[in-house]
Amino acid sequence: MKNCFITGSGSGLGKELALLYSQKSFHVHLAGRNIEKLAAVKREIEAAGGVATIYSLDVSQPESLEKIAASLQSSGCSIDILINNAGIGMFGPFSATTVEMMETIFSVNVYAPILLTKAFLPLLTSSGMVINIISTAGLRGKKHEAIYCASKFALRGLTESLQKEYEGSGLRFVAAYMGGMNTPFWDHSNHVEHPSRFPLPKEIAKQIVHEAEEQLEVIIKT
Ligand SMILES: NC(=O)c1ccc[n+]([C@@H]2O[C@H](COP(=O)([O-])OP(=O)(O)OC[C@H]3O[C@@H](n4cnc5c(N)ncnc54)[C@H](OP(=O)(O)O)[C@@H]3O)[C@@H](O)[C@H]2O)c1
Repeated sequence: MKNCFITGSGSGLGKELALLYSQKSFHVHLAGRNIEKLAAVKREIEAAGGVATIYSLDVSQPESLEKIAASLQSSGCSIDILINNAGIGMFGPFSATTVEMMETIFSVNVYAPILLTKAFLPLLTSSGMVINIISTAGLRGKKHEAIYCASKFALRGLTESLQKEYEGSGLRFVAAYMGGMNTPFWDHSNHVEHPSRFPLPKEIAKQIVHEAEEQLEVIIKT
């Protein structure tokens, strides 16, 4: 059975990607901080006949990322797809930016994908794929999103660089860019007036799964 490891898969886009890869007969490895949410996704996958394992993981803790990779390696598990999906947003005027806010955003949106990808390199199969969930905030700057955009531009830089570095190796690094989605991402923010008007993540997930098979860049206009 092929294996797919997804960070932040207890809700939103990560959950939908998990359900889709499970339908494609992958053993889905669900990681996040909230075990109840992950357990609910696992139940949904198992009810449909799929296989899932859950991991309590705070991606902002570098040692946890190494630990999880080491434990998968010692159990002999290889990974076909790693999806760096966990991400957070904090928005507002640039003048209100704090060091704490920058560190929080960059630890989840930038350092975690870098460190997890590096830790998973020995686990990836020879034709393995890493999908980095970026955002259109990684394609162009946006008002009151300076730090979020900076973090997503960084993730884009990582992905494009790895595409070049590993070209011809069999490993594929896919950059996925999408506009707003109606997910819990917006639950504690007034930055967007009507997030419920955004498309649901299910359709976005379908396009990512489909297009990532062929392309290294998936751009979804919403
Ligand atoms: N919603 C949008 O409009 C939109 C648009 C473009 C791109 N994106 C990107 O899409 C990705 C998924 O977001 P979403 O919209 O699906 O929102 P979401 O439902 O809030 O999903 C984000 C996930 O990240 C996990 N997460 C956050 N901090 C974490 C940490 N420190 N350690 C481990 N997991 C953590 C959360 O799980 P736990 O709370 O269980 O840890 C949550 O399940 C993000 O990278 C986001 O930047 C979102």
